[in-house]
Amino acid sequence: MNVGGKHYRTIWLKDGDAHVVQLIDQRWLPHSFVIEEVATTAQMVTAIHEMHVRGAGLIGAAAGYGMYLAALEGVERGCLDANLTSSAVSLKAARPTAVNLSWAVDRQLEEMRRALNPQQKLARALATAMAIAEEDAAYCRRIGQHGVALIEEIAQRKNGKPVNVLTHCNAGWLAFVDHGSATAPIYAAHEAGLAVHVWVDETRPRNQGSKLTAWELGQHGVPHTVITDNAGGHLMQRGEVDIVIVGTDRTTYTGDVANKIGTYLKALAAADSNVPFYVALPSSSFDWQIKDGLREIPIEQREPDEVKHADGWADGRQIEVRITPEGSAAANYGFDVTPARLVTGLITERGICQANEQSILALFPEHAP
Ligand code: MRU
Repeated sequence: MNVGGKHYRTIWLKDGDAHVVQLIDQRWLPHSFVIEEVATTAQMVTAIHEMHVRGAGLIGAAAGYGMYLAALEGVERGCLDANLTSSAVSLKAARPTAVNLSWAVDRQLEEMRRALNPQQKLARALATAMAIAEEDAAYCRRIGQHGVALIEEIAQRKNGKPVNVLTHCNAGWLAFVDHGSATAPIYAAHEAGLAVHVWVDETRPRNQGSKLTAWELGQHGVPHTVITDNAGGHLMQRGEVDIVIVGTDRTTYTGDVANKIGTYLKALAAADSNVPFYVALPSSSFDWQIKDGLREIPIEQREPDEVKHADGWADGRQIEVRITPEGSAAANYGFDVTPARLVTGLITERGICQANEQSILALFPEHAP
């Protein structure tokens, strides 16, 4: 997608130097656009853990490149297999909820397992890292092509008045390699000339909505309004939301959806106000092993300090301030699980399905038991 009129992806191999991966360091957005160079697996683990990169698809792509860097290090030091094993463990432990992380690491291990010698393993690791990134972008584009039909239908009913979409957190192109999942239908609608307006939940405590989603929609010229996390229910009751589209970090094959904390409350409000609630995801975000999302999806708990502090831009630099009483404890649950019964449908690269086992497996029969 575009930044200042120039096309960027969120992660790529450095032109002319196959030892370096470049990525957009999201910690500084929207105030500064910083590109970070990552040259070791340990640096990639840090980039994922400390959220220089975040969002399900991008975490998967970063893990793919992380395993490629592990292969490079292993070949250079003559300890390829041991390095791959230990790197796989550290990458998988970097963040627990997004299933794309372990999916990408396992895909790399499986590809390399079939190679005959270290050089072949290295070549496969590079090809697989690039393939994971390419697929992520292509699948998100297809999610847009399928999801735009939902927006078109509402636009027709509203006789061309703007379609109001509410989204939570950032499931935009910054959360993937390109296009995004929840935003892909929005970008497709905007490009097709449909009037669309996005309610952007700010998404405390890290504010991925007000910092990232608002920034990328703005860069692309999509009308949007940032709202506090608690405003969505009020807007839905007043008929000011036509459709909710969110992303997901992990969705069970039965349709339970883990997404950024607060998503469940939006789904409850949407059900109460008869607003359709859709989840957009590439197949890499399905967990084909887990049946019961509430009990089985690991929920990341992050540092309480993220709740106690807020950061922003003042006097030409990013500053952080404490916003709670000094002695108050804080808890920081990163994700929640929205049960399948509250989800109107899933928008995938293969089409739209219902959030239940039968409908999901009809689209992805290769995962049927
Ligand atoms: O903690 P993050 O920023 O990595 O969380 C991921 C998210 O941005 C959201 O949960 C998103 O809606 C799903 S990821 C495509």
